[in-house]
Amino acid sequence: MKNHLHLLLIVLLAGAHESDCVRLTNMTSPPVQDPRNEMRLHCRFDMGGEQLYAVKWYKDDHEFFRYTPTNKIKIITYSVPGVNVNLLQSRCSSESCDLLLQNLTKPESSGAYRCEVSTEAPAFRLASETHNITMAALPKEKPVIEGLKHTYTLGSAFEAICTSGLGDPKPSLKLYINNQPVHSMYITEKIGNPEKQQPFHKLNLRRAKVQLGMTLERTSSLWNINSQNRLTCISSIEGLNLNIAPALNVTRTFTVVDSNQVIKNQHLHWPNAGSRPQGCFQGLLLTIAGILATFNYYTHSQ
Ligand SMILES: *[C@@H]1O[C@H](CO)[C@@H](O)[C@H](O)[C@H]1NC(C)=O
Ligand SMILES: *[C@@H]1O[C@H](CO)[C@@H](O)[C@H](O)[C@H]1NC(C)=O
Ligand SMILES: *[C@@H]1O[C@H](CO)[C@@H](O)[C@H](O)[C@H]1NC(C)=O
Ligand SMILES: *[C@@H]1O[C@H](CO)[C@@H](O)[C@H](O)[C@H]1NC(C)=O
Repeated sequence: MKNHLHLLLIVLLAGAHESDCVRLTNMTSPPVQDPRNEMRLHCRFDMGGEQLYAVKWYKDDHEFFRYTPTNKIKIITYSVPGVNVNLLQSRCSSESCDLLLQNLTKPESSGAYRCEVSTEAPAFRLASETHNITMAALPKEKPVIEGLKHTYTLGSAFEAICTSGLGDPKPSLKLYINNQPVHSMYITEKIGNPEKQQPFHKLNLRRAKVQLGMTLERTSSLWNINSQNRLTCISSIEGLNLNIAPALNVTRTFTVVDSNQVIKNQHLHWPNAGSRPQGCFQGLLLTIAGILATFNYYTHSQ
């Protein structure tokens, strides 16, 4: 029984020892990377008292960098499309390995980047972590709404154009009136402005452009009559999480007036307004008639 207890204790201690063997403590990478900029990959680890054998970096399971401090040649790089490590600005030690990648291209540089740390023989224990990185050029500017007037009368045409900033992938645009989505039947995609090529990074920067065209019907629940309405345009990159590629928005206000109601309102403000012009006109006629009558009187009396 006592022997069994000892055995159990040894097993437990061995287990405890296992748990503080090599592990990654902090790997950082950008979820979305603009290929025009350089990219930093950071991998920090805790050897748990063991010797470091190697830090290996992979992209999509292809090794592109190896650091082996006990070897004569400490750093080896392997050619992987879209991966160019600046060795002068990369630094590895017994506790971390930081890389600077340059000359990124889309989509070659996108992928799953793995940092893998291994201990010396005989254990060769491994610890690794993988981060997905997506190459994309997010628009830097908010979308722009053009052609919107301040005031529209009910029944008239409502038109506006929204244009996104430059992006690759091409941004997509959504329109809202008073926070309600505008139905696609009122939206026409326009061919964007000339595209901007960045051949070095294999980027094709484009703008999205949509035209909104509808008639301001009396019956729509989209807008409020005789008060302020909001037209919002939101640009986002489809396929990218909004947390890592936040949407950009712009809002402009406009008023829809009912012309019938406006005239009625004017009448209300000036109760006599309806008869007034008529009265003036009648008065004018009477005056003319009076002049004519006077003129008649004089010509006849002479
Ligand atoms: C992880 O490393 C990054 C980059 O060096 C640093 O900014 C961050 O504070 C670290 N996080 C932790 C939890 O140590
Ligand atoms: C990036 O490209 C420039 C220009 O072609 C070159 O001088 C530089 O060595 C490249 N950097 C890397 C890390 O490959
Ligand atoms: C990384 O991307 C792959 C393939 O698209 C996916 O299966 C995996 O779940 C992603 N991992 C993370 C951590 O997002
Ligand atoms: C619009 O952008 C602002 C920041 O400019 C943000 O605070 C707001 O939440 C965004 N609104 C929507 C509907 O996305």
